[in-house]
Amino acid sequence: MAPTRLVVLISGSGSNLQAIIDSCKNGEINAHIAAVISNKADAYGLERAKKAGIPTAVLSHKDFATREAYDEQLLHVIDSFEPNLVVLAGFMRILTGNLVQKYVGKMLNIHPSLLPKYQGLNTHQRAIDANDAFHGVSVHFVTEELDGGPVILQAKVAVLENDTAETLAARVHEQEHIIYPLVVKWFSEQRLSMEADYAVLDKKQLPAHGAHYP
Ligand code: GRF
Repeated sequence: MAPTRLVVLISGSGSNLQAIIDSCKNGEINAHIAAVISNKADAYGLERAKKAGIPTAVLSHKDFATREAYDEQLLHVIDSFEPNLVVLAGFMRILTGNLVQKYVGKMLNIHPSLLPKYQGLNTHQRAIDANDAFHGVSVHFVTEELDGGPVILQAKVAVLENDTAETLAARVHEQEHIIYPLVVKWFSEQRLSMEADYAVLDKKQLPAHGAHYP
């Protein structure tokens, strides 16, 4: 099977990008990262990509008057790398319907909460404030609803008594770096697809919360 072509979109540190780079390099995932695109020129993830010899592109949202205009150009740049799968890895932008529709079923996101809980920002603090016993992370297909597409895989993380948003986030990140490469691997093995409002793994419909890791 030909390696799956990935385009990874980032805005920041890119630790999830790194986990995927490593999994591609060590042969765990049969995929090739065709490009890393960032909306921020100073995103550290761009350095990670360069170190790994991956082409990079920066497209600043500040250079565009509207979200639509930005996304139109972003779509153009993504298309130019001909990806089979677009991986959002800390890409801090809300995407327009046009862009999402073009890659529906072929675009993944990772969100640091047990979706459908805590869509949006500040998820770690919100889990602490709510006295949740468990927090976690979800990988899901991207649809037009923000953090709302079919969930594929979740990992739970226990919330400890003295947790701060930072300590909790650090433990969630450890899980992110395991489950994101795993989902990309499933996709690249053609075991994963999206139906109307659920994900399918090995021909079986996944529940609304996705599969659980481990
Ligand atoms: C992660 O917490 C991810 O869940 C969220 O953005 C963060 C990206 O971190 N979507 P990194 O840039 O991969 O280190």
